[in-house]
Amino acid sequence: MDVKETVVIIVGAGPSGLATAACLKAQSIPYMILERENCFASLWKHKSYDRLHLHLAKQFCQLPFMSFPKSSPTFVPKKEFLQYLDDYVTHFAINPLYQRLVVSAFYNESLGKWNVKATNGVSGELEEYISRFLVVATGVTCDAYIPKVEGLSKFAGDVIHSTQYKSGGIYENQHVLVVGSGNSGMEIAFDLANHGAKASIVVRSPVHVLSRGMVYWGLKLLNYFPYYIVDSLMVLLSKIKYGDLSKYGICRPQEGPFSLKVKYGKFPVIDVGTCSKIKSGEIQVLPGLRSIGETEVIFEDGRSYPFDSIIFATGFTRSTKAWLKGDEYLLNDDGLPKPEFPNHWKGEKGLYCVGLARRGLYGAAMDAQNVANDINNLV
Ligand SMILES: Cc1cc2nc3c(=O)[nH]c(=O)nc-3n(C[C@H](O)[C@H](O)[C@H](O)COP(=O)(O)OP(=O)(O)OC[C@H]3O[C@@H](n4cnc5c(N)ncnc54)[C@H](O)[C@@H]3O)c2cc1C
Ligand SMILES: *[C@@H]1O[C@H](CO)[C@@H](O)[C@H](O)[C@H]1NC(C)=O
Repeated sequence: MDVKETVVIIVGAGPSGLATAACLKAQSIPYMILERENCFASLWKHKSYDRLHLHLAKQFCQLPFMSFPKSSPTFVPKKEFLQYLDDYVTHFAINPLYQRLVVSAFYNESLGKWNVKATNGVSGELEEYISRFLVVATGVTCDAYIPKVEGLSKFAGDVIHSTQYKSGGIYENQHVLVVGSGNSGMEIAFDLANHGAKASIVVRSPVHVLSRGMVYWGLKLLNYFPYYIVDSLMVLLSKIKYGDLSKYGICRPQEGPFSLKVKYGKFPVIDVGTCSKIKSGEIQVLPGLRSIGETEVIFEDGRSYPFDSIIFATGFTRSTKAWLKGDEYLLNDDGLPKPEFPNHWKGEKGLYCVGLARRGLYGAAMDAQNVANDINNLV
């Protein structure tokens, strides 16, 4: 079998992998990207809904060495973000190897290098690669996660994960349950209601609801004030704008939005209009699931309602540990960094991760630069 060798192997051609490639290129360090899908940024191209915009202002979402065009709006729509990534890939002449699912990687002590194996999705063959450095850029959103709920397999209606949701058009007049009250769930519920579906959303635990503008100013103020001050301001503004949402089933957490973000990687909900639809009764808020029957769903408080479809916006897991062998230091069983920020990106024996610290595109861009600089010092 012919074995391909390079200096750096990057696993994943999402924004994190592309940013790493650009930073390595800037230092003339050879690399290869192995990507399981047949395109870069597959999450954005194929696994996100039509109305998606970047939640953060564009200056917090750009990758190294390239700004968004002056003409693009503060909150970039999905289509323009994809155009930006297209330009990025062209500009830095990034050529990922597609349809390469990495199935194992281990550090070969006698060789002093990483042995990486990937299945070629076209030929079906197992290919071998060797590199001195290995960068895990497989994303926080690697594998769609649907929790086990009693009776789910017996449900007669449609069940999908939020990554399969495109638009509410096909759900008109249906009773649709959205499970999960993160940004995806809240926005999908809004989109469903806009398209004439009868939408309900499960909100199981307390969440902060902020507007895009509040987060924008909050991030700016964090340059000058400590978290607790900005957090108090955010909560105050949220109270003024949204009032008391607890009577609709949405409670505020004890801790402030930015401190939750930093401590647990828990994002505040950035309201796109869902709240006013909740207040008007267009969207119903429901508690956690107890069980699911053939046509109805039973909730923790004993209520039950019939539904035609269920959309699980319940997040993601990471299967990295199934293929990455011999790393005791960098990633935990859930594929997230063990070392605390800002030391989360560097492992042992030339292993790195980019974009896994739950700090969005901004964090990925920082990681990519750190990793490339570190490698540059070692080659
Ligand atoms: C609906 C939604 C909205 C979001 N909005 C924002 C936002 O506004 N701002 C922001 O900063 N972030 C946002 N995010 C977070 C988003 O995850 C990041 O912006 C960005 O996509 C992360 O890039 P990444 O390269 O780290 O991961 P990904 O984009 O997930 O890319 C990882 C790549 O690795 C590949 N891969 C995985 N496993 C393997 C394997 N074993 N072998 C080969 N290839 C593999 C995958 O196919 C994928 O292409 C959003 C996420 C979602 C789901
Ligand atoms: C490690 O590399 C050496 C030298 O190329 C090779 O002979 C050996 O088989 C490799 N080890 C494993 C476990 O693949």
